[in-house]
Amino acid sequence: MGGTVDLSVDIGGMRLRNPVMTASGTCGYGEELAPYMDLRRLGAIVVKGLSLKPRPGNPPPRMTEVPSGLINSIGLQNIGVEAFVRDKLPSLMDLGVPVIANIFGEDVEEYCLLARRLDGSGVAAIELNISCPNVKKGGMEFGRIPEEAHDLVREVRRATGLPIITKLSPNVRDIKEMAMAVEEAGTDAISLINTIPAMAIDVERRRPRLSSIIGGLSGPAIRPIAVRMVWEAYQAVKVPIIGVGGIMGASDALEFVIAGACAVQIGTATFIDPAVCEKVLKGIEEYMDRHGIRRFVDLIGSLEVS
Ligand SMILES: Cc1cc2nc3c(=O)[nH]c(=O)nc-3n(C[C@H](O)[C@H](O)[C@H](O)COP(=O)(O)O)c2cc1C
Repeated sequence: MGGTVDLSVDIGGMRLRNPVMTASGTCGYGEELAPYMDLRRLGAIVVKGLSLKPRPGNPPPRMTEVPSGLINSIGLQNIGVEAFVRDKLPSLMDLGVPVIANIFGEDVEEYCLLARRLDGSGVAAIELNISCPNVKKGGMEFGRIPEEAHDLVREVRRATGLPIITKLSPNVRDIKEMAMAVEEAGTDAISLINTIPAMAIDVERRRPRLSSIIGGLSGPAIRPIAVRMVWEAYQAVKVPIIGVGGIMGASDALEFVIAGACAVQIGTATFIDPAVCEKVLKGIEEYMDRHGIRRFVDLIGSLEVS
């Protein structure tokens, strides 16, 4: 078992040994998981979202548990791109696993500067978090309007030779429309979904549970929505899709793959079990063995509907 199945997958020119990655923001810069699992077993490591300058994030409380999920409002706290490249990237690269830098900016120019800075740094690809307000255009999220997302991806495409993964927001009228817009603008791959805006209230105190009042919902609660969106995007675009949202085990990951994802990212589950990525990988291998499937790629989009 294991040695007989081929788990490798190609995403926008990046060759991954297997399809299991961390999700941005849930394992810092990798070191938070290192004591619990062998990071070299991952298909890729996606790091916490990076901005040009360091950011302190929102004041606490900024995470609250809800049934089947978690609402967070970390506020994109991070050490900034320079400190990442100088202090974190070298040891991450020593692992021999592709490192994907998740980035976000307040305007198109900031995304482009980040993408340019990361060119040649050693990262294997960049993931654009487009669920961020465009400060120059009245604060509406880039990821909400297809034209805005298109223009952003087109400009980042011009700024870097690195593979671009565009991470879609679920907070849209039509996910197919968004997927097509960023594909047309030249993205190499799509990841989906980011968190869903949500809110929880402490009724005794009649106060919001988060300092920011509204936060982003993640975990199993959002998985059926994410699977549906992967399935819809898979019908609409040719670029590879990375599925993310509420994966707790191998069968959850397989749902995404059968719906059309060529790889998966795991976030919230790592807070419960920091070794979950390794278990998901092992479970996928076992499933393939059991079903006589030798190549992982043959599973992608294998949903039977009739
Ligand atoms: C604490 C926390 C921090 C996150 N930070 C980021 C981030 O910096 N950039 C980003 O694109 N997504 C971020 N996300 C979203 C996750 O990468 C993922 O898209 C989402 O949580 C759904 O997956 P999950 O249910 O497996 O956690 C964050 C999620 C959580 C829970």
